[in-house]
Amino acid sequence: MASNLNSLKAKKFLSMLPERQARFNEGKAELVEIEDNAMALAKALHPKRQYLKIEKITERGEDCRSYTLVPDGEKTKSLAYFGAGKYLTVFETIEGMPVTRAYSISSSPKESLEGRYVLTVKLVDGGLVSKYIFDNWEVGTEVEVSAPSGNFEYQPLRDAKKVICLAGGSGITPFVSMAKAVADGDEDFELTLLYGSRSYESILFAEELAELEKKCDKIKVVNVLSDKGVKVKKGDEKGLLTAELIKKYAPENEPYSVFICGPQQMYDFLGDELLKLKLEKKYIRHEMFGEFHNPSSQEDYPEGIPEKITVKVRIQDEVYTVEGNSADSLMQTLEKNGISVPARCRSGECGFCHSHLLSGKVYVPKQLEYRRLADYKFGCIHPCCSFPLTDIEMEVPTAK
Ligand code: FES
Repeated sequence: MASNLNSLKAKKFLSMLPERQARFNEGKAELVEIEDNAMALAKALHPKRQYLKIEKITERGEDCRSYTLVPDGEKTKSLAYFGAGKYLTVFETIEGMPVTRAYSISSSPKESLEGRYVLTVKLVDGGLVSKYIFDNWEVGTEVEVSAPSGNFEYQPLRDAKKVICLAGGSGITPFVSMAKAVADGDEDFELTLLYGSRSYESILFAEELAELEKKCDKIKVVNVLSDKGVKVKKGDEKGLLTAELIKKYAPENEPYSVFICGPQQMYDFLGDELLKLKLEKKYIRHEMFGEFHNPSSQEDYPEGIPEKITVKVRIQDEVYTVEGNSADSLMQTLEKNGISVPARCRSGECGFCHSHLLSGKVYVPKQLEYRRLADYKFGCIHPCCSFPLTDIEMEVPTAK
């Protein structure tokens, strides 16, 4: 210890201070931009925005379209790479109001290196953004999107080697990307897809999935059809995505993960079915497809909640008071009243809309509850999945 202290040479150290101060004084006041390789790579992987244009539109039935997006060549020269399962947030301005929607990428990670993403959009009944996209996006339209985001991707350290994927309707899109990544050799797991649709006519990506199954022995596709009169082809199933059906395709004596992506009704149905599987929590992964609406049918939703709610919101120095409906999330209420809230996933997971609840109570569907203990402690909420139970006073951070 003594020799360590002696080696400090305190006198010499002190004599350096004036010299150091002089160098500080000589320095320029402006911020010096330092861009090293690591910074450049980080920026390329996680750009704040990507500026794209539509190269091609593929019709998928009456109410679904795939949009092939390529860099605009000016503000964006190449696309950010991503893990299969991620989504892009689309930024649009509709009637002067900035809005966002998240859409899973249905192309493969490899295709992003070739310069294209594919987003598949289903026309939602009464949906503001999907309707706008259907009416306005055409070949050549410029589109602004986020970097690929989300956690719905295969993680070898967490997930089992065999994955049962449960898809409903247009919730198939992240699984198309995953299946492509498996077939390309970019992901290494066995993917069994149980795809719930009403009839053969409503199946999306039928040809692509059949080709992927043929091309790669790690991929199995089973269509599960629910319409009563439907005649099921060999290898497909009739009915719903039940625990019994999942067990039929799951390995018997080894762990497996279950990945789920579909509409709200599918999650409501799967709740009890998944419990019967007795899987460890880490083996169940889900992605909400589309926004959650009207939580009143959830079994833990309290009784006697008024329909009309007043929301008082502070944004910087401005305070707005708006009328809302308890069936709408706080984000939906604010947006319907022309108040923009920062958002990405719109399903509780990214934390981007993180706000403060100053007074009142909210209900958060348990499948969308991603807040940490500290968030509860400091009154933080995610307005995208918080439904008012009483009049609310809240504070929204400024746009990000
Ligand atoms: S937008 Fe992602 S948590 Fe609200």
